[in-house]
Amino acid sequence: MRKKIVAGNWKMNNDLAETEMFLVDLKKQVFPENVVVMIAPSFTNLNQAFESLREHPVTVVAQNMNQNNEGAFTGEISAKMLKSIGVNTVILGHSERRAYFMEDSAILAEKVNTALENEMTAIFCIGEELEDRKKGNHFKLIKKQLFEGLFHLSNESWKNIIIAYEPVWAIGTGETASPEQAQEMHNFIRKTIAENYSKAIADEVSILYGGSVKPDNASEIFGQDDVDGGLIGGASLKVDSFMKIVNSF
Ligand code: 13P
Repeated sequence: MRKKIVAGNWKMNNDLAETEMFLVDLKKQVFPENVVVMIAPSFTNLNQAFESLREHPVTVVAQNMNQNNEGAFTGEISAKMLKSIGVNTVILGHSERRAYFMEDSAILAEKVNTALENEMTAIFCIGEELEDRKKGNHFKLIKKQLFEGLFHLSNESWKNIIIAYEPVWAIGTGETASPEQAQEMHNFIRKTIAENYSKAIADEVSILYGGSVKPDNASEIFGQDDVDGGLIGGASLKVDSFMKIVNSF
């Protein structure tokens, strides 16, 4: 059975002291047994978060990594570095990486390969811009992102892939996809995987929704058949709102 997941993507928020405060509070919480909870702090706080949460059922995730295993890539972080501090999961292809850091599908496919070669799990983000949706191109675009980023993978690799559907127009805008729009796209993603791989593989992949998920809209979104949880930005920065979302299934 596929997993229910709530992952907090902190983006470029929370310094050392703020991370410490969050962790102290997080460790006092009771976590539901049927939900995998993840947080993705910045690189500088990953080690702190991993060490602090050693005995807790929360997975510490990186927000990005380089596609190369090592070498002269000033400012970059490798899979080996992440693994050496206990981090085995990485977000790849977030729309902010695609838009502001010129990460195209070719680079992202390489990053996915590097993650899998290093026995990591990738949370692979896809999502259309508002213009694409207005023109009715959103399904075509999502299919293209799936093909270019993931559809070179072997059947076996899919057990280490989580997909996050994040419509760009809903990120940080307060505007969410309606539960029906989320379900429609998640179902399309699952069907596309089934057509190109198998129903068995498609049924096992967790597909998370991201884009202005808040405590007051999470349960309706998570209640959709093909929505297996969420990738949460702003509302993951406070333990209180994050935990309300974690408890929204
Ligand atoms: P918000 O929840 O702040 O809209 O961000 C969503 C997101 O980009 C998570 O990766």
